[in-house]
Amino acid sequence: MKDLFGKKNQAKNNELTGLDLTDGNYKIPKHLAIIMDGNGRWAQKRHLPRVAGHKEGMETVKRVTKLANAAGVKVLTVYAFSTENWSRPSDEVKFLMKLPVTFFDTFVPELQAQNVKVETIGDIDKLPDSTKKAVDDAKEATKENTGLILNFALNYGGQAEIVEAAQSLAEDVKAGKLDADQIDKDLLASRLTTGFLGDLANPDLIVRTSGEERLSNFLPWQAAYSEFYFTNVFWPDFVEADFNEAIKAYTKRDRRFGKVKA
Ligand code: FPP
Repeated sequence: MKDLFGKKNQAKNNELTGLDLTDGNYKIPKHLAIIMDGNGRWAQKRHLPRVAGHKEGMETVKRVTKLANAAGVKVLTVYAFSTENWSRPSDEVKFLMKLPVTFFDTFVPELQAQNVKVETIGDIDKLPDSTKKAVDDAKEATKENTGLILNFALNYGGQAEIVEAAQSLAEDVKAGKLDADQIDKDLLASRLTTGFLGDLANPDLIVRTSGEERLSNFLPWQAAYSEFYFTNVFWPDFVEADFNEAIKAYTKRDRRFGKVKA
């Protein structure tokens, strides 16, 4: 059961993703990060309330989790709620805060079957109690799983996390535990909320849906060498074919990390 989405199930994974995942055919990002944009416009187009788009967007998270796991992605980070999203109308914020409860209520058994481990980045202590509990319970229930890490950015702000990392380093310098010149990029990175991901902390590919082409305070440090893929598709409409297009585009990218080609 645990290996349902592992390498051994090539045929099943090929069928699920519609990609021939035989080694070498596609480059699969180890860390895929997604800015799930366009929920509101998806709803508006259908004369539905904005929150209907978020509800449908939750279904897309389920779909993409399965696809990413089957493709062999190691970390899938999804931008579910930013520190700036608190300033949306209070009914919308309330709805967004209930979504993790609904999501985990209905999806944890499937996450278990897929061997997916739930993690978060961002300040989840500031979430309403019921939201925090749903998130904590899902993390606890899946903590032994060894497959895909489904990482929710919840109450996440990229600049704030850099400020907090700098503060924690400054505290250590003040306490005499650290010399200022010992601070390097690896040490700073270890103090970010993605520190627990170690070598997988930086996204290889960042996807943004809905036609917007900006980072919106999402993983600004970690995105230093990420590839970007933008699509006009609204997040609730993002299906297997769109996932595959992103993988195909990434496969063609030549990542040089500032060096010249060997
Ligand atoms: C951006 O679309 C989307 C969000 C701010 C919320 C993202 C949340 C989900 C996709 C739900 C999944 C969450 C969980 C916890 C399973 P927008 O509202 O800015 O769309 P717009 O730009 O068209 O108005």
